[in-house]
Amino acid sequence: MTIEKDFIIIGSGVAGLTFALKVCEFGSVGIITKDVLEESATKYAQGGIASVMAEDDSFELHVKDTMETGRGLCHEDFVRIACREGPARIRELIHLGANFDRSGCGQGEFDLGKEGGHSKRRILHANDLTGWEIERTLIEAIHAQDKIEIFEHHMAIDLITRSRLEESIKPGSEQDEALGLYVLDHRSQKVETFVGRVILMATGGAGKVYIYTSNPDTATGDGIAVAYRAGAKIANMEFFQFHPTCLYHPKAKSFLISETVRGEGGILRLQNGQTFMESYHSLGCLAPRDVVAQAIDYEMKKSGDDYVLLDATHLEGYRIRERFPNIYKTCMDYGFDMSREPLPVVPAAHYMCGGLVVDANGQTNIKRLFASGEVSFSGLHGANRLASNSLLEGLVLSHRAVEKAVSLLKKSNNFQKELDKIPDWDPGSAVDSDESVVVSHNWDEIRRLMWNYVGIVRSTKRLKRAERRIELLLEEIQEYYWNFKITKNTLELRNIAITAQLIIQGAMTRKESRGLHYNLDYPDPDDLNWKHDTIVQNTVHRLITQTNPRIVTHE
Ligand code: SIN
Repeated sequence: MTIEKDFIIIGSGVAGLTFALKVCEFGSVGIITKDVLEESATKYAQGGIASVMAEDDSFELHVKDTMETGRGLCHEDFVRIACREGPARIRELIHLGANFDRSGCGQGEFDLGKEGGHSKRRILHANDLTGWEIERTLIEAIHAQDKIEIFEHHMAIDLITRSRLEESIKPGSEQDEALGLYVLDHRSQKVETFVGRVILMATGGAGKVYIYTSNPDTATGDGIAVAYRAGAKIANMEFFQFHPTCLYHPKAKSFLISETVRGEGGILRLQNGQTFMESYHSLGCLAPRDVVAQAIDYEMKKSGDDYVLLDATHLEGYRIRERFPNIYKTCMDYGFDMSREPLPVVPAAHYMCGGLVVDANGQTNIKRLFASGEVSFSGLHGANRLASNSLLEGLVLSHRAVEKAVSLLKKSNNFQKELDKIPDWDPGSAVDSDESVVVSHNWDEIRRLMWNYVGIVRSTKRLKRAERRIELLLEEIQEYYWNFKITKNTLELRNIAITAQLIIQGAMTRKESRGLHYNLDYPDPDDLNWKHDTIVQNTVHRLITQTNPRIVTHE
């Protein structure tokens, strides 16, 4: 079955839904999402969205904080765009119905929070459920549109590009363009062909590549892997941000304790009650995340402790319950009353700073393929993301992508001829798998090896080990993938393995320590040789043929 839309959006977080709402007046829209519409990393964002809203704040200060936290690798031009355009995008959200907390009786100025690396209070929030407030608002607006069709439980397999149909066109070259994609409906197990004039990749991040992560189960690096296989440029994958404070509890699945708890005065302590952050950074517990996560990792290794403590017991109990109702309640469910006892916390993988290289309008190096949100690399975050800058990036980039995307829609005259060349999916000789244990074993092995060898503190020896293992695993996964009918699990496994390989490659390439990438063998930043991005591109040319469209996936 072929489904044709003007705009195809993969992913349903802030980036995908913002774009959908804005382009739907120009054409038909299809949103492909792996789970249900609201299930995205956006939904779980607690802290908020950073923007200059207070009288004593300025764009210059927001730019400075972002650039300092990014350790010399932020792209200043895009940082300026994001900081300047943020307030207008937030006003649009408020106009759509988003309720951010205000001081006083709810009518006054915004009640702005503070997080690590920010010199001013500038975090708009809706209690500690900011992401859900944004997602809820956008979903309500989406449901009011009749030109947007939603495909839940659908997962992208591979992009269909011009270079995959014509031998003379090189993947990712100037002549290349995205035409559509093969998509698995994982409830019916059928593969559908989606064709579109513009495709937006908004699949979010890849925290599931690590065994401990604050991310939802959907964060399996799908957009990175799908676009990389098609020849899109990918940058700076070595910079994976670890959030310093996730609840330590065997059943909590790395539940996030927002940095805004520290912003309101929460203090990090060792298990013996001693504070330690003052010896790592002048901002103490509110130092940028790379510093805090590395300090906790160091202290845990030194003491042999399994966790450190986040102490909010000196704050007023009613204030904790009012400001952090979700965190308070969730911790209570796990048996911790954070107003009376310090919480056990550990760092966990949180945010992918690298991604698909885009220009300031979200366009990748493959024509008609755009990216926005965590999957994209706009240059905003550099070597370390400033807290709460990510929802901002998704809003700004998706808004800016609209004009360019609409202009491409108007230049789609010969498109039909191209579409006629696309063959339907054919499973070939693949059979049902009788060895699903391979998938679960490999999945586990990748996540463990990434945590142990490519985590907060790295070394060349550990990275080499990880490189060797991931190569073997990828070989095995490809073989499995080729022989058996695809399922959501096999697709995710293949994507996570490729994403892991890209993180390892980036970490091996960068021979210095900077921001989120810390290598014991190169402990210092090396501005002379490494003050630049690491960019990779896959140029392996695989054609989709009428006899076997599945070949596209066998790389
Ligand atoms: C948090 O609330 O600590 C997370 C905010 C972010 O990652 O930007």
